[in-house]
Amino acid sequence: MRREIFGAGLAVAVWLPCPCPAQDAAAIGRGHAIAEKFCARCHAIGMRDRSPHASATPFRDIVAKGHVENLEEALGEGIVVGHPEMPQWRFGPKEVGALISYLRSLSGKG
Ligand code: HEC
Repeated sequence: MRREIFGAGLAVAVWLPCPCPAQDAAAIGRGHAIAEKFCARCHAIGMRDRSPHASATPFRDIVAKGHVENLEEALGEGIVVGHPEMPQWRFGPKEVGALISYLRSLSGKG
């Protein structure tokens, strides 16, 4: 439904800090894809899964601990966390925003 309009709007409105639901849903989707691609081999990225890497905090717990804001900054600077086992990436603001949206979505619904 209304695919074309949505798609066109997306290109323009991607990273305005706007809490509109449609944009959020798109960002959450992208964030989930990033998490799956880069993080899921160690971290649990969903609501119920277990972390494949025993000491990697499940993402839902990172959210529950309220670490999302720190993470946003850290990812933006290209520093994820200073853990030797954890590779470092440089994410652009788009990726960071999407990832954060996805993480936030883990705190809301059950
Ligand atoms: C190679 C395995 C691995 C991958 C891939 C990985 N992590 Fe981690 N991560 C870890 C481990 C292990 C820890 C626990 C570090 C510690 O206890 O010091 C951790 C910890 C963290 C923490 C801190 C958790 C806390 O309790 O505050 C955050 C945030 C985090 N990872 C985010 C990410 C994100 C975002 C990605 C994907 C972009 C990612 N990690 C990918 C292994 C990984």
